[in-house]
Amino acid sequence: MLNTAVEFAKANGERFVEELKDLLRIPSISTLPERAGDVRRAAEFVADGLRQAGMENVRIIETSTPERVGHPLVYADWFHAAPAADGKAKPTVLCYGHYDVQPPDPLDEWKSPPFEPEVRDGNIYARGAVDDKGQMWMHVKALESALANGGQLPVNIRVIVEGEEEVGGEGIAAFVRDHGDRLKADAALVSDTEMFAPELPTLCVGLRGMIYTELEARGAMVDLHSGMYGGAAPNPFVALAQVIAQIKRTDGRIAIPGFYDDIEEPSKAELEAWRSLPFDEEHYRKTEVGSTELTGEMMFSVLERTWSRPTMDVHGMPGGFTGAGAKTVIPARATAKISFRLVPNMKPEKAFAQYKAFVESMCPAGITLEARLIHHGEPIVVSTDNAYVRAASAAMKEVFGKETVFVRGGGSIPIVGDFVRELGIPTVMMGFGLPDDNLHAPNEKFHLANFHRGIESILRFFELVGAGE
Ligand code: BES
Ligand code: MN
Ligand code: MN
Repeated sequence: MLNTAVEFAKANGERFVEELKDLLRIPSISTLPERAGDVRRAAEFVADGLRQAGMENVRIIETSTPERVGHPLVYADWFHAAPAADGKAKPTVLCYGHYDVQPPDPLDEWKSPPFEPEVRDGNIYARGAVDDKGQMWMHVKALESALANGGQLPVNIRVIVEGEEEVGGEGIAAFVRDHGDRLKADAALVSDTEMFAPELPTLCVGLRGMIYTELEARGAMVDLHSGMYGGAAPNPFVALAQVIAQIKRTDGRIAIPGFYDDIEEPSKAELEAWRSLPFDEEHYRKTEVGSTELTGEMMFSVLERTWSRPTMDVHGMPGGFTGAGAKTVIPARATAKISFRLVPNMKPEKAFAQYKAFVESMCPAGITLEARLIHHGEPIVVSTDNAYVRAASAAMKEVFGKETVFVRGGGSIPIVGDFVRELGIPTVMMGFGLPDDNLHAPNEKFHLANFHRGIESILRFFELVGAGE
């Protein structure tokens, strides 16, 4: 059964990529209200793909509420796995992915347009190629390959695909809270993370959480001529700069009182394992970051700084004059988009309250500050001591011919925490991205060899889980 599925995947690999291209042509940018129609088209595309794969009960689930406009979820299931010889039902695996993408800007840095997928040197380039349309499509195509020609799956399956991951995943979180029973499963499979290095099979066993905030500063009641009023009127941008400069010290430490109090450090064994990963800081600086120096808390390694330490970043400061040339204005208001990454045992609500109290205590004269929480997600570490992680690790090892390594990811996938906490199921994060895939950046790509090996790894994972190994 496994072999026919793998053969089917190989024989149809080119078609799978052509279909992925069609999905990548849909600009399903969840954060832009004017793209809501495209987001929905992408949801329908995924639903059609699941139907064609032979999945059952395929449906689009709306997430809008009177308070909020949401993007749809796509659901499907298949519950016909033949019981084991002793009559015991096969486990159910919940496959998760997201079909929404980040905005593509800055557009002029793309070598080919973000929504006109192009294959170059064995990579497919497009917004969403790896994050997460390409990886989500591997799940759909693995299911299709197993079910083709009257085939069977070795496990029972539920699929849930969301269209709001890149904006915090509020809709799916509410669905899991209110209808957790409709996603009841024995384990979740998530393909939305990276491999540690090319050719190195990797399972991700932890993610940072986050709070995404806006800090708004208001000064004068209207925009003012900076020559006439400069020197007497407060400037909200200067105020924001002063406040932000105090949130994070130059040595990388966040100065908010109590911010580090609850942190749970990685175990000695985990830190030891991280030290044996093939990591060259200079290579990372040059090829991935490209800055003159790396920054942050120097007493921690780069992997600790990005995986198990909290941090703060500023993403943009809307307001005032940003056009070409010069305009002498003191804007009445200015905003900074500021996020914090949280690590295990930190609570988003508490972190936000500490941050809010801190910035308010720093508020410069003549300015009113308002800190707003846009979205949040909890940090997680998943247990590795279960049959699902062992099966995933063995499946990847078979496909890549190397021992699988365990890493954490610095990014966040808000719903994974709910799978672990609300559904109480082990979660396997089997990702096939590469460190230079340019997630959220221009020229995002997915290495096509990993798309195909991903499908095979997923098929082998199902097989091992079904066999009870
Ligand atoms: N797939 C990423 C998260 C990720 C990337 C995890 C690499 C591990 C390694 C996900 O789509 C993402 O970008 N999440 C956002 C979350 C947010 C907007 C709530 C993130 O991390 O910024
Ligand atoms: Mn993603
Ligand atoms: Mn993303």
